[in-house]
Amino acid sequence: MIVCVCQRVSDRDIARHVRAGMCFSDIQLELGVATQCGRCEGCARDIVAQCSATQPVAAIQLATSILESKAWNSSAHLAAV
Ligand code: FES
Repeated sequence: MIVCVCQRVSDRDIARHVRAGMCFSDIQLELGVATQCGRCEGCARDIVAQCSATQPVAAIQLATSILESKAWNSSAHLAAV
């Protein structure tokens, strides 16, 4: 979905930049979102907030599942050898 019509920035563009560690100001500078008419600012900030809130949980869940996986448990592999 296009969030910023003036700069043609989508919600996926914004989410990708949040996942890269950027805050709203960084994204605004990089993509130009909310730099012309400003009507998209609220929606763009909401997307940044939603992605920022969900991203750390997803990373922790992924790290936990990797650590608990037998395929990545090197100590169990060494004990078997
Ligand atoms: S719609 Fe984003 S600046 Fe106009």
